[in-house]
Amino acid sequence: MTRKNPGSAAHSDLPTAAARSRKSHVSEKAGRFTESVIREMTRQAQQYGAINLAQGFPNFPAPAEIKQAAQAAIAADVNQYAITWGAKSLRDAIARQAKIWQHLEVNPETNVTVCCGSTETMIASLLAVTNPGDEVIIFEPFYENYGPDTILSGAQPRFVKLRPPAEGTGEWTFDPQELRSAFNPHTKAIILNTPNNPTGKVFTQSELELIRDLCVEFDALAITDEIYEHILYDGAKHISIARLDGMGDRSITINGMSKTYSVTGWRVGWAIAPAPLTHAIRKVHDFLTVGAPAPLQEAAAAALSLPENYYVQLADGYRRRRDLLYESLVTAGFSAYRPRGAYYIMTDIRGFGFSSDIEFAKHLVKDIGVAAVPGSSFYADPQSGSRQVRFAFCKTEATLAEAAQRLLRLAH
Ligand SMILES: Cc1ncc(COP(=O)(O)O)c(C=O)c1O
Repeated sequence: MTRKNPGSAAHSDLPTAAARSRKSHVSEKAGRFTESVIREMTRQAQQYGAINLAQGFPNFPAPAEIKQAAQAAIAADVNQYAITWGAKSLRDAIARQAKIWQHLEVNPETNVTVCCGSTETMIASLLAVTNPGDEVIIFEPFYENYGPDTILSGAQPRFVKLRPPAEGTGEWTFDPQELRSAFNPHTKAIILNTPNNPTGKVFTQSELELIRDLCVEFDALAITDEIYEHILYDGAKHISIARLDGMGDRSITINGMSKTYSVTGWRVGWAIAPAPLTHAIRKVHDFLTVGAPAPLQEAAAAALSLPENYYVQLADGYRRRRDLLYESLVTAGFSAYRPRGAYYIMTDIRGFGFSSDIEFAKHLVKDIGVAAVPGSSFYADPQSGSRQVRFAFCKTEATLAEAAQRLLRLAH
């Protein structure tokens, strides 16, 4: 093979400079989405010394037991590649807990793939099941990764609106007719996120049954992001759509360590799926990342063995934080939607008279000292979210109290 040296005379036979400069070195796909606004807001929080209520990561410690398990695994030299689709100890723990929590029958040898966070699990799943031109239904507002995920996998997103309650305390809902008309013979899958980011909605049994009926009628898959499974309030119950009749062989259930165990930096997540889909997801995952961090998979297995009381305390701690932030937002003049799950509060900012969510979020981070996420980043058409801003409350009560003080300046 011969290679031209960039400095050699061989360059004289290259096309003219004008022709040469017209070739884009950036892919058409990468050009179709922007950087994450959520992660950008974290950088701005650092720049302005603001309290970061933008990105969903806790600022309090992870459970001591699981940190010790991670340290022990490293000390025991679990430091090389794990099995591509996940350490056996972790897959066994995932299967065991899926049975206990959601009554799912999961074979750890054929139904589980461990990936680098649920982020990789989602894109690996989409790459494993979609062909160019396939349609994927997404409820909006949506967690911003789903947009680029569909673009990267070549699928065509179709958005169905979740509508806010008239009063702050009601439920976000969708119009069943609008959902039905989004399904068609090209529909490959629907992405569900319950409990939901950013709305805090927890899909009910009857909503899931309606979605199930459409999936069966149109032979579509449900890809469900259940990363906030254990963060529920006011008696809300989490239901995996995979456990409904008819969904066992058409569901990919995604979950992970990040939120339940306050370790967003560990990057361990997983998919539970029927064997043929698991086979495809495992292949894609292998060539994307080979595997998730080996010692942290051992720690994840230990985490999944924490007693039931851990989850009770987790949800209770978040309920207190939710109430704290909700009250502060209302006092500061926001219309806020009280979430029933996950750890975000979506707000309506119309009362403040700003021209857009972007302008408002800029003011918040620079002048008020609190970072939040502009609502537009959760919608395909930015205009739809231009009157909304999302706050995260996965922070210590002291941090939330300080944020409350700062937000009061908005009222003056
Ligand atoms: C709905 C949802 N899915 C996935 C993630 C990311 O999860 P992971 O850290 O497992 O990649 C987040 C993080 O905020 C999220 O809100």
